Amino acid sequence: MMCLEVKDFIQGYIGTRMDGWCLWSVLSWIVTLSVLAWVGVQLIHLTRRLFIHAFAAYPPFTSYGAWAVVTGCTDGIGLSYAKELARHGMKIALISRNPDKLETVAWQIEKEFGVETKVIQADFTKLDIYEGIKEKLAGLDIGILVNNVGMATRISPFLDVPDGEKTYQDVLLVNNMSMVRMTHMVLPGMVEKRKGIIINVSSISDVSPVPLLTTYSATKAFIYSFSRGLAYEYKSKGILVHHVDPWYVYTKMMNKLVHRPGLMAPTPDIFVRADLRSITKVQVTSGYWLHNFMREAARFMDFIAPTAATNMVGWTIKNVLERAMQKRAKLKKQKADAKTA
Ligand SMILES: NC(=O)c1ccc[n+]([C@@H]2O[C@H](COP(=O)([O-])OP(=O)(O)OC[C@H]3O[C@@H](n4cnc5c(N)ncnc54)[C@H](OP(=O)(O)O)[C@@H]3O)[C@@H](O)[C@H]2O)c1
Repeated sequence: MMCLEVKDFIQGYIGTRMDGWCLWSVLSWIVTLSVLAWVGVQLIHLTRRLFIHAFAAYPPFTSYGAWAVVTGCTDGIGLSYAKELARHGMKIALISRNPDKLETVAWQIEKEFGVETKVIQADFTKLDIYEGIKEKLAGLDIGILVNNVGMATRISPFLDVPDGEKTYQDVLLVNNMSMVRMTHMVLPGMVEKRKGIIINVSSISDVSPVPLLTTYSATKAFIYSFSRGLAYEYKSKGILVHHVDPWYVYTKMMNKLVHRPGLMAPTPDIFVRADLRSITKVQVTSGYWLHNFMREAARFMDFIAPTAATNMVGWTIKNVLERAMQKRAKLKKQKADAKTA
């Protein structure tokens, strides 16, 4: 019945009678050309991003404002954003929880890049920190806000995460509440001068659910939605919202899964340099050429077969973790053997 209706529709549309073979041949051409067009568009996007992350000129960061604010800046990706923006002449407001590490990072940045810094100690698992941060940022000409701070849970089924009630509350406060409150604090000043960049650091796990890291990946999906909606609302007011969702980057957070930096897991400095080339050119990216390929593959899988995609990711995570644990145990044993020899 359905086939007949489709056939009648096409025949009516082109004004010619068609036999069954001809109809299916037309339909299969339509499907094939649509898939090819989709693949073509994706390849164009990927190639464009590949060139941008590798070769595009850095934007004039200081033209957006004198200061960059970076959350979670004493290690990993946040530390690299702070250093790279300082290298380009921005003054840096550093927000993290460990006062000693903050002082060390501020001293290093001032010494290496000759720019002013401001240190703000805050633990984003708390809700009473925001008035203090606001007071310390008052009066600064903020051009860039990097919402980077994030924490992950242990890789395990939902109920097996130790101290679940507190851990899940912390994850939501650090990954999501910090981003909303910091953006709410800094955005009015940017809107007033009609320019500013907000960089939201998410994770490739925002594309499709990641079993065994379910709550973490759900907080990252929140960021994806938040970034895209905000970008639309404030584009006409001169604000750029740049969403970056990395795959593996070689940092403390990933040290259980990744043992050394490489092509798949770049160092945070390499990753951030590649991403900063794109912040005024691409709204959503994984920040690094290879990560963009992984992102598009994950997106495609989730689009055509969402349940199979989740099963595959769950299976992969389990295996990657098992292999990483075995490798870790082997390295530990090799080190112990070398010591006793
Ligand atoms: N690394 C990856 O492969 C990867 C992949 C996808 C997404 N990401 C995302 O990238 C972002 C940065 O990750 P990363 O790998 O660079 O992490 P990281 O190396 O663990 O560094 C996290 C930074 O955040 C600070 N921090 C943690 N909890 C905090 C809290 N409650 N209050 C204030 N500061 C806090 C840490 O400060 P302390 O020095 O005090 O610990 C540290 O400076 C996160 O949003 C993460 O989800 C990372």
